[in-house]
Amino acid sequence: MNKKNIAVVFGGVSSEHDVSCVSAKSVIENIKRDTYNVYMLGISKEGRWYLYEGDPALLPKDRWLQTDAITPAFISPDTGAHGITVLRESGVETIYLDAVHPVLHGKNGEDGTIQGLFQLAQIPFVGCNHIASAVCMDKAFTNMIADVAHIRQAKWRSIIHYEYGKYAKEFLAEAVAYLGFPIFVKPANAGSSVGISKAKNMEELIKAMTVAFAEDDKVVLEEFIDGYEVECAVLGNQKAKASTVGEILPVNEFYDYDAKYISGTTDLAIPARNITEAQIEAVRESAIKAYKALGCAGLARVDFFVHKQSGEVYFNEINTLPGFTSISMYPKLWEASGIRYGELLNRLIEFALERGGKV
Ligand SMILES: Nc1ncnc2c1ncn2[C@@H]1O[C@H](COP(=O)(O)OP(=O)(O)O)[C@@H](O)[C@H]1O
Ligand SMILES: [Mg+2]
Repeated sequence: MNKKNIAVVFGGVSSEHDVSCVSAKSVIENIKRDTYNVYMLGISKEGRWYLYEGDPALLPKDRWLQTDAITPAFISPDTGAHGITVLRESGVETIYLDAVHPVLHGKNGEDGTIQGLFQLAQIPFVGCNHIASAVCMDKAFTNMIADVAHIRQAKWRSIIHYEYGKYAKEFLAEAVAYLGFPIFVKPANAGSSVGISKAKNMEELIKAMTVAFAEDDKVVLEEFIDGYEVECAVLGNQKAKASTVGEILPVNEFYDYDAKYISGTTDLAIPARNITEAQIEAVRESAIKAYKALGCAGLARVDFFVHKQSGEVYFNEINTLPGFTSISMYPKLWEASGIRYGELLNRLIEFALERGGKV
């Protein structure tokens, strides 16, 4: 059997650059080498692209950039190239690609921008297309679609900076009357809990708006849901399947940046510990519904709250390129559902190939 050429794209101009490099190391080390030739295509924090031909162990902390195993290279939008253009000292080389696996998080990786490039090049790629990626990245657009699809979620409002500058007082008064305190304030496009605050009164709310607007031109406000925080992994194209459900056991007041990356003390329970079997089923069903409504393909991790009093399931958000280290929730959920890490990578590439280059 001919081996297929796969490029793993990592790094990127994103606040989640470092997480991407850690995820990519796990992915590269676990792709089946008897089936695939793997090319490592790294993007620096400044947005420079390189083919990396060194040890994947050097991906974390950007040590790969300090080696001499990097050569300027990029994915050409030209359908004739269908792969990586490498600018070697000896001349230009083209590496044909069967598929790309973007292991990128956040801006420029998870938001449809790079997916648009793969689509121009007509190269099959792992994950959602440019539209679904962009919509899922934007919390206001995601919430709009969830409402239209009758997926239960927290009550919400959103506003752009220009309007806020004109009507801040009226907007906040209406939002407080509608949502009640505490209110979660989030940049519409960010991730990793960056710029998110929980405001308990008007003074905190005004501060929270400034913090969120520092990250994005659009801000989303949400009613506080006092719930267990659970996540479900979805895999596949039209016939996508949902994994079992995992739970984030809180250490800080909410699942903030510190809990995710700094103190690193977050505990995961798989399967979820504090919800019933029926609630697990409701989460899985809602995860598939959200995945379809938002036009996802390949994979996504869908996050929910299960209300502590009512037991109702509330959709929170959807991540189209979730964390993919060997201890991340997405691969852990599939492992608990019987699909091991290496096999999961295999299936993701197969789903990309099944969809083909003309998305
Ligand atoms: N409406 C809400 N009610 C209660 N907690 C929330 C709400 N929205 C967000 N949170 C808390 O804030 C965290 C980060 O919010 P989230 O919307 O998931 O943003 P991110 O995209 O940065 O992960 C969540 O994991 C949860 O702990
Ligand atoms: Mg989240």
